[in-house]
Order: sequence, then structure tokens, then C-alpha cells
Amino acid sequence: MSKTLLITGASSGIGAATARAAAADGWNVALLARSKDKLEKLAGEIGEAALALPCDITDHDELNAAIEKAAAHFGSLDAVFANAGTGVSNPGIEKGNPDEWHAMIHLNVLAVLTTAHATLPHLRKTRGQFVVTGSKAGRDHLKGSVYGATKWFVQGFAGNLAEEMREWGGRCTVITPGMVDTPFFDEPKPDKIQPEDVANAVVFALSQPGTAAVREVHIMPND
Ligand SMILES: NC(=O)c1ccc[n+]([C@@H]2O[C@H](COP(=O)([O-])OP(=O)(O)OC[C@H]3O[C@@H](n4cnc5c(N)ncnc54)[C@H](OP(=O)(O)O)[C@@H]3O)[C@@H](O)[C@H]2O)c1
Repeated sequence: MSKTLLITGASSGIGAATARAAAADGWNVALLARSKDKLEKLAGEIGEAALALPCDITDHDELNAAIEKAAAHFGSLDAVFANAGTGVSNPGIEKGNPDEWHAMIHLNVLAVLTTAHATLPHLRKTRGQFVVTGSKAGRDHLKGSVYGATKWFVQGFAGNLAEEMREWGGRCTVITPGMVDTPFFDEPKPDKIQPEDVANAVVFALSQPGTAAVREVHIMPND
């Protein structure tokens, strides 16, 4: 029986590329994001192995309902890719916008925690894996970057979660790319990391034998 991967932020960029790559590698994929039309198009392209579950993952009830639907539909959850994230349009602290920080922290920090909280009981049953999208911005210091600070949280949290999951044979991986050519940016970035490159890294981490816990995959552009 195929294993099941639940992906947040599956409607575009890294999440959509990972859905395609994982499905090609034999996984069922449960696709979570707010854009129903994009998710349904992607699920239609992948076929029976995909399930579109439109939801806002910052809404507890919507997130929990989508996770339970995914587990019921496919019979188990073997891996989770907590990938949804956003930046801000006003960078820096002095010129930053606290309302934008609030929304970004809700998605980049709190929704990663609630996604882990709601999926861990399922992953414990399968001795499964939790993969989360950090960033180069969560390993380096960037002038006034609140976005970067949310990814420093993800970097620290991923290691702590790995230690908690290890108690029952589970594994946690943080993927830390530099600039990736996705709709995260307004302009195309053809010389930067491609979303398919990050998807390959996720599939690599997920396909290792149980004796190997890939704790981090760090990818940089080669331009
Ligand atoms: N691009 C880069 O250079 C880069 C580098 C390092 C790390 N990252 C990280 O990579 C991750 C994916 O970003 P991306 O570059 O692939 O950008 P993207 O194409 O903008 O993807 C963001 C995804 O998050 C989803 N999302 C946003 N708010 C949501 C919400 N409230 N509920 C559910 N889903 C939500 C979006 O879908 P909907 O709008 O349909 O909800 C979309 O699928 C993010 O965590 C980002 O911080 C990106």
C-alpha cells in the first residue's frame, strides 16, 4: 500500500513541486492550501493519489478537519511537509508593519506548531516523518528581518521536534534553501534554486532507511 504525505502550502512553488515529485515516487499526497482552484487543478493532474483539501491552516478547526479527512481518506499519515509560509512587504523593524508580523508569525511559527500537534498522533502510529521548510534566512543574520527570525524559530524547533519524535522512532527534517524561483517573489528567478530541486531534497529525506535520520538539507543557488 502507498504511503501518504500531507503537504501544507501545496498550491504553488515548493509545495506543488513536492506534491508532483512525491506522487511520482509512489506517495499519496494530501494537498492543503487556501486556493481551492489551484489545489483541484493539481490534484486532477496527479490523479487518484492526490486529495485536494482547501483550508486556511491558521484556522485551527479548518486545519484539524483537513488532517482528519486526509488520514481517513488514505488510511494513514506517513509523512508531513509543513511548508506553507509567507514574507512581508515592509522589511525591517523601524519601517516594518506589526500587523504584517502578526499574520506572518501566525503562519510561519504557530501554524507549524499546530500542524505538528495535530499530525503527531498519526505519525506516531506509522513511525513517520515530519519535514518543515526553514530557510537560509534561518541560519544567517539578515538586517532587521522578522521573516528570517521566524525561520530561526523553525530551525530550532525542527531539532527539538526531532528529539521528541526520536523517542518512538520518528524523524524530523528541516529543509533550508536559499532563494528559490517561486511565486514568493514577483519576478522570475531562473538562475536560482528551482522548486523541483527542493522537492527532490524532500523526497530524498523521506526515502532514507529508518536507520538514517536526515536532520537538515541545506541547498544554495549555484549562480
Ligand atoms: N522562495 C524562496 O526563496 C524560499 C526560500 C527559503 C524558504 N522558503 C519557504 O518555502 C515555503 C514555500 O514558499 P514558496 O517559495 O513555495 O512560495 P509560494 O509559492 O508563495 O507558496 C506558499 C504556499 O503557502 C500557502 N499558504 C499561504 N498562506 C496559507 C494559509 N493561511 N493556509 C494554508 N496555506 C497557505 C500558499 O497557498 P494559498 O495562497 O493557496 O493558501 C502557497 O501554497 C515557505 O515556508 C517559504 O518561507 C522560500
